[in-house]
Amino acid sequence: MPIAGRLANVLFLVAKMKPTIAIIGCGTVGTAMGKLLARAGHRVTGVATKSLNTAGRAAKIIGAEQFSDRPWEMSQGAQVVFVTTPDDVIESTCEAIVKHRGFDKNAVVIHCSGALSSAILSSARRCEAAVATLHPLQSFASVDEAEKLVPGSFCAIEGDKTALPVVRRLVRDVGGILMEITPEGKTLYHAAAVVASNYLVTLMHLALALNRAAGISPDVSCRALLPLIKGTLSNIDAKGIPAALTGPIARGDVDTVAAHLKAIAERVPEFLMIYKALGLHTVHLAREKGTLKSDTAEKLVTLFQRQKPGRHV
Ligand SMILES: NC(=O)c1ccc[n+]([C@@H]2O[C@H](COP(=O)([O-])OP(=O)(O)OC[C@H]3O[C@@H](n4cnc5c(N)ncnc54)[C@H](OP(=O)(O)O)[C@@H]3O)[C@@H](O)[C@H]2O)c1
Repeated sequence: MPIAGRLANVLFLVAKMKPTIAIIGCGTVGTAMGKLLARAGHRVTGVATKSLNTAGRAAKIIGAEQFSDRPWEMSQGAQVVFVTTPDDVIESTCEAIVKHRGFDKNAVVIHCSGALSSAILSSARRCEAAVATLHPLQSFASVDEAEKLVPGSFCAIEGDKTALPVVRRLVRDVGGILMEITPEGKTLYHAAAVVASNYLVTLMHLALALNRAAGISPDVSCRALLPLIKGTLSNIDAKGIPAALTGPIARGDVDTVAAHLKAIAERVPEFLMIYKALGLHTVHLAREKGTLKSDTAEKLVTLFQRQKPGRHV
C-alpha cells in the first residue's frame, strides 16, 4: 500500500481509538458518565471515591476493572480522568493526585462542575496533563436518571486546546449535544442555569403563595398552573423571546398592574419587591416586542419603582 494510504489508515485508527477512563468521585454524575462511556466502548480502568464501599459499588455498576479509596492509584495509566467529586473538593482532590504523580503525561483531566472553570485543575499541568470541564446542563437526582438524561442534554465544555478534541469526542460518545464556552463565561453560564431551572421553581412557589392568598389550595393551584407553564414553554420554543411574551404588561394594561401591586401589598407584602423587579424587566421585554408605547411603558416603570403602591394617576 502506498505511504499516503497507510498514513490515512493510521490516522483513521487513531481517530477511532477510545481513550481509557478513570473516575474519581463516583456519585451520581461520575457513576452515570462511567456507565455511559463504558457502554460506548471505553475501557474504564479504575474508579475511586472517599469510601471503599461506594467505590466497589460504582465499579460493579460501571463494569470498571478496579476500584480504590486512593484516587492516584486509579488515575495512573488512564488517558482521561474525571474528577467528579463535590465542587468544593475538586481542586484539593486534583492536587492530592498531583502530589502522588498520579496523572500520566498527556492525560486529560476533566471536572463536571457548572460553576467552576478548568483553572481549578491547573495543578495537573505539573504532570504535563491537559485540563478541561464538561458540564451536562441537567439536574440529576439519581444515577439512573442521569444515565437517561445525559444523552440528548447540552454539555458545555471548555479547557486546554489539546484537551478539547478528546472532550468533544466524549460528549458525542455519551450522546450529549456540544456547547463550547469560555472559562471566563462559566460563572454567568451557571447563573443562567440557576435562573432557568431553580428560579422557575421559586417563581412557581411565588404563584402558589399568591393563589393561596386568593383562597385556592396549593394542590389545585399547582395542577391549574402547570398547563399554563407548559403552554408558555411551547410558545417560547415556537416563537422565541420576546415574541412569546403575553399578559397585562405586554398589552400596556396599567390599571391591571396597579391592582396587582395594591392587592400584593395588602395581602402578601413579602412578595412585592420580587413582583416589581420582574415587572420592570418585563416592561423592557414588552418594549423590545414592540407592543408597548413609550408613554405606557413610562407609567408602568413609575408604578414598579414607586415605594408605595397606589393608582397610577
Ligand atoms: N447532580 C447533578 O444534578 C449535577 C449536574 C451537573 C453537574 N454536576 C457536577 O458533577 C459533580 C459531581 O456531582 P454529583 O451530584 O455526582 O455529586 P455526589 O453524588 O455527591 O457524588 C460525589 C462523589 O464524590 C466522592 N467524594 C467526595 N469527596 C471525595 C474525595 N475527597 N475524594 C474522592 N472522592 C470524593 C463521594 O464519595 P463517597 O460516596 O465515598 O462519599 C461521592 O461518591 C459536581 O462537580 C457537580 O457540580 C452535578
